[in-house]
Amino acid sequence: MVQTKPTTATMISKSYDPLKLIDVDHIRFYVGNAKQAAFFYAHCFGFQIDQVSDLTSGNRQEASYLLTQGNIRLLLTTGLSEAHPASQEVARFGDGIKDIAFAVPDAVAAYEQALANGAESDHEPVEMTDELGTVVKATVKTFGRVVHSFVSRTGQYELDKVKHGGVFAPRFNGSPDLAINRYNEEHPCGLFYVDHCVANVELGKMNDWVSWYEDVLNFKLFKHFDDKDISTEYSALMSKVMDSGRELIKIPINEPAEGKKKSQIQEYLEWHANTPGIQHLALMTTDAIDSVAQLRERGVDFLTIPDSYYDIVWDRVGDIKEDTGEVKDLRLLADRDDDGYLLQIFTKPLQDRPTLFFEIICRRGSQSFGKGNFKALFESLEIEQERRGNL
Ligand code: FE2
Repeated sequence: MVQTKPTTATMISKSYDPLKLIDVDHIRFYVGNAKQAAFFYAHCFGFQIDQVSDLTSGNRQEASYLLTQGNIRLLLTTGLSEAHPASQEVARFGDGIKDIAFAVPDAVAAYEQALANGAESDHEPVEMTDELGTVVKATVKTFGRVVHSFVSRTGQYELDKVKHGGVFAPRFNGSPDLAINRYNEEHPCGLFYVDHCVANVELGKMNDWVSWYEDVLNFKLFKHFDDKDISTEYSALMSKVMDSGRELIKIPINEPAEGKKKSQIQEYLEWHANTPGIQHLALMTTDAIDSVAQLRERGVDFLTIPDSYYDIVWDRVGDIKEDTGEVKDLRLLADRDDDGYLLQIFTKPLQDRPTLFFEIICRRGSQSFGKGNFKALFESLEIEQERRGNL
C-alpha cells in the first residue's frame, strides 16, 4: 500500500547545508505518449527501459517510463487524463523537459532553504511510502515551464540502490523483459551522465536567471560568452554558464541577441509558446567515435556539417588522439582550449517542434563548450531553420 502525504523538514544542525546536491536524481520529460517515446529513446540512443509506473502498477494518474544509461535517468511521463498537468503542458509545448530533479539529503530542508533564498514553490513536499521505503519530493519553479525537484530517499529507494537495479519509487514495476534492452546491453552507446543542460530564456532575462541560480541554489558563474563569440552573419545569442560545483551539472543560460535574421533562441521560444525551456541536454561519452558510430547505426538524425569544416578544423584544434578520418566520417565537431580538446555533435530536434535536442560530448581535458564550433554549428543550424521557413 502506497501512502502519499505532506511532510515537514527533519531537525537539522547549523553546519548542515540543505542545498548540498548529491546527484541529478532524474530528468523528467512530459511527452504525448510515454510508451512510444520510451522506445524511441531506447532504440535511437541505447537507453534501457528500466521501470514503468502505469495502470498495471496502480498508477491511475499517469504513465511514467524510467530510462537509464550510465548515471542518466530519464523519466518520461504522459498524463492519463486531460486534467493531468503533463497533458496540458504537452498541448502547449509539445514533448520536452519539465524537471531537472536533484538528489539531496533532505528534500524538505532543501525546498525550505530554496524558498528562503527566493525561489517560488511549484509543489509542496510529498512523501511516498510503502513497505520498501520512502521517497520525498518537493519542487520549486525555475525559468519558464521548467522546475527543479528536490528528492530524498530512504530504505530500498536510496539512489545508490536505484543505480544498481533497485525500484525507483513506489508504484514502479521493475525491468520488463524487452528485446530492446537485451540489444542495448550487447550494443552499448556509452553515454554516462548529463554534462550540461541548456536553458533558453527571453531577451534581456539571462542575467536575472544567472542571479537566481547564484542566490537560490548557490551555483557559480563558470564561463561567459557574448554575442561576439556566438554569432554568425545572421543569428546570435548570449550565454552564461552556471556551475553546480562538485562536477554535478552545468546549466548554460542563453538569451537571443540581435542578428540580421532570427536567432535560433528566438525560433525555440516561438515554437515553445513564447516560454523559456530546456534547449538541449549534453550527454557525456568517454569514446566519441564508438558512441557516435553506434548512434548513427541506430539512425539518429544529426545536424549536417559541411565538408569545408574539416578543411580548416585541424589548423585550429591541432593533434588529437582519435583518427581524424573517422572524426570526419562521423561528422564530429572538434574544439580546443588551454586545458585540452573536446569532440561534440548535435542531433536535430527530437520531436516535431524545433525545440529540444541532444548533444553528445567527449572531453579530453577541455572544460569549455565548443566556442570555436559555434560559428560552424550555427551556420548548419541556419540551414535547418531555412528549411523550416523560420529564418
Ligand atoms: Fe552544449
